[in-house]
Amino acid sequence: MKKSVDYKKLYDAFREISRMVHSPNRLEEVMNLVVWKSAELLNASGALLRLHDPGTDHFNMAAAYGSAEPLLSKEPVPMEEIRRATEDHQKIYIFPDITQAPRVQSIEQKIREGIRMLIDVPLYNEKEVKGIIRIYFKKQVTFAQAELDFLVSMAEQCECALTKTQIIETQQSQYNFLALQTAKLSALGRMSAAIAHEINNPLGGILLYSSHMFKKASEDHPFKKGLETIMQETSRCKGIIQELLEFSREQAPVKKLQSLNEIINKSLNILENEFYISHITVSKQLDKNLDDISLDANKIEQVFVNLFLNAAEAIGHDGNIDLVSRYDAVHDQQIIEISDNGCGISTEDISKLFEPFYTTKSTGSGLGLAVSYGIIRNHNGTITVASKTDGGTHVTIALPASRQTPAKAQSQ
Ligand SMILES: Nc1ncnc2c1ncn2[C@@H]1O[C@H](COP(=O)(O)OP(=O)(O)OP(=O)(O)O)[C@@H](O)[C@H]1O
Ligand SMILES: [Mg+2]
Repeated sequence: MKKSVDYKKLYDAFREISRMVHSPNRLEEVMNLVVWKSAELLNASGALLRLHDPGTDHFNMAAAYGSAEPLLSKEPVPMEEIRRATEDHQKIYIFPDITQAPRVQSIEQKIREGIRMLIDVPLYNEKEVKGIIRIYFKKQVTFAQAELDFLVSMAEQCECALTKTQIIETQQSQYNFLALQTAKLSALGRMSAAIAHEINNPLGGILLYSSHMFKKASEDHPFKKGLETIMQETSRCKGIIQELLEFSREQAPVKKLQSLNEIINKSLNILENEFYISHITVSKQLDKNLDDISLDANKIEQVFVNLFLNAAEAIGHDGNIDLVSRYDAVHDQQIIEISDNGCGISTEDISKLFEPFYTTKSTGSGLGLAVSYGIIRNHNGTITVASKTDGGTHVTIALPASRQTPAKAQSQ
């Protein structure tokens, strides 16, 4: 006799689940609903859901219903076991005889409880199994195709909820990281500004008096050389203070409409010799149609020189720097990407890059990126760095291009 299917019930349950997946519900609620509805609609005695934990590479219990509820405290299952059981990537696995099913913990107890059959429904994303629903039955049953389709669709919905939650969690942690970085940098900025102010004036005095004495001292005066050193070193300190003030937003940029490509080319010219000596090739893909945008050319040039120098220093000898400029019509920004195939930066160090005085170089001041960050921020832009040890570094700068018309922004 052909099994009669209550399509309305299946459809209602599916709608309820998909509504929950697409509303701002927590994953936990979706999972509970999935195990409950799977068991209820198929007249099963219970159902459970295990989810993959990438941290431990095990499948942990995530939700259970009915006779499966006491199983919530069961041990995690290693990824390998689940992968082996689902390696032929079927959408559903039916085991009419529970003794033939894989991974059944406490089988005697289950038989004592009257469990005879089970169904496994894996949750797949494109590449991997992410979870598995197991449904327990007290007798051997056959299912209509619609019921099996319902199970598969529910598993897909559940996977959807899982992916959505993971994306939200990743965004949340990226946001928290950025918020922390911004807070740290603005605290450092305030501190740097205060120190810079305090030191700037006495330095000015030292420079003034030492140069005055230098001019007065005759060429053979025993203090002449010493005074010159005082002047040079004081000027160097003033330079550092200037950079700190830059970082701490103390100096407003003087902006005019300028071509970003021209500034890139000018900065490259400054370092031409440096690149030549170190056998560094620079390849450029500059979008010739970029409009002029409002920039402080000197400051932006300073940023590029800093970044190109960093790239060259990371390469050492024989390597490439790739430069791209382009228009991002979606965000109305001009983008500059600088990639090098140098030594790269480890994941632990990447969060320190923009901190003033963070350097791994014996002769570095550690202000290059901190200052560049301040300048780009003063232009309402962003600067981001992606890198791995030995994998080269990719710096992206985005600057507002409010004058750009999308029609003009085509790459050549
Ligand atoms: N392209 C890059 N590749 C690898 N490491 C980099 C790169 N750019 C920056 N770094 C790392 O970030 C650190 C900080 O860079 P930053 O430019 O702020 O200072 P610096 O280059 O050390 O000194 P300076 O103040 O002279 O520029 C560097 O010491 C280096 O370890
Ligand atoms: Mg530097």
